[in-house]
Amino acid sequence: MTQLSAAHAKPSDGSKALYGGKGTRRITVRDIALAKERGEKWPMLTAYDAMTASVFDEAGIPVLLVGDSAGNCHLGYETTVPVTMDEMTMLSAAVVRGTQRALIVGDLPFGSYQEGPVQALRSATRLVKDAGVGAVKLEGGERSHEQIRLLVESGIPVMAHIGLTPQSVNAMGYRVQGRGEEAAQQLLRDAKAVQDAGAFAVVLELVPAELAAEVTRVLHIPTVGIGAGPETDAQVLVWTDMLGLTTGRVPKFVKKYAALREVMGDAVKAYAEDVVGGTFPTEEHSVH
Ligand code: KIV
Repeated sequence: MTQLSAAHAKPSDGSKALYGGKGTRRITVRDIALAKERGEKWPMLTAYDAMTASVFDEAGIPVLLVGDSAGNCHLGYETTVPVTMDEMTMLSAAVVRGTQRALIVGDLPFGSYQEGPVQALRSATRLVKDAGVGAVKLEGGERSHEQIRLLVESGIPVMAHIGLTPQSVNAMGYRVQGRGEEAAQQLLRDAKAVQDAGAFAVVLELVPAELAAEVTRVLHIPTVGIGAGPETDAQVLVWTDMLGLTTGRVPKFVKKYAALREVMGDAVKAYAEDVVGGTFPTEEHSVH
């Protein structure tokens, strides 16, 4: 790892850390690079709307991903595959409007970059210009390196995403990636390819913890793990999973920090019973 001098290793706004730091300006990809130099771990969450994003921003989450997981978690699709550029642009713009400090990363949906670098640039430019995101994310290692290179050369920071890539569910299913020597070597090649192409960070989804730790040691850009064990530089979770709003089974790697589905369901039933029983509204909630 390149050693920066102590002066260079400080976040450029004078705050101490990505999480728990004070700055009022947006986090940038330079701040992310400095955090890797300091060996600092940081949390990332998904967000799909302005109000929820404002809660995460106020809590100090330094990077919010407007993931195409919005497909399953916000828009009612079964997978991320049907999500469109129009939807990602609308959701990303809302998250940007709801936040002040977090770096907002907008996901490029399936079909918006696979044709090649020029299509990727057109799609990414839309998220940057129309939605105001500070960076974009796309899936794929070696297979996406040309897209990543052109975006970075054009001034658009890119977060890469390797391991399990949900947009390829029809080809790979939802299963652990990088198991076995050959698959592990491919994951390492993918990680190096996205770093060489200029990505500022790389998501490692559903890969064995030991392999994720090795990738994290080998790369100078930060790794962001989801189902990739404790050794990555950062962690990301889908917010509806970790706050207990998602219906049905959530993956084993998710830790549930709240039970929002029960909290909301109970509150809504209490309201309904008040209305039916005539105990809401009362004088307190009436105007004259
Ligand atoms: O779309 C998404 O939310 C993601 C994360 C799971 C990394 O890609």
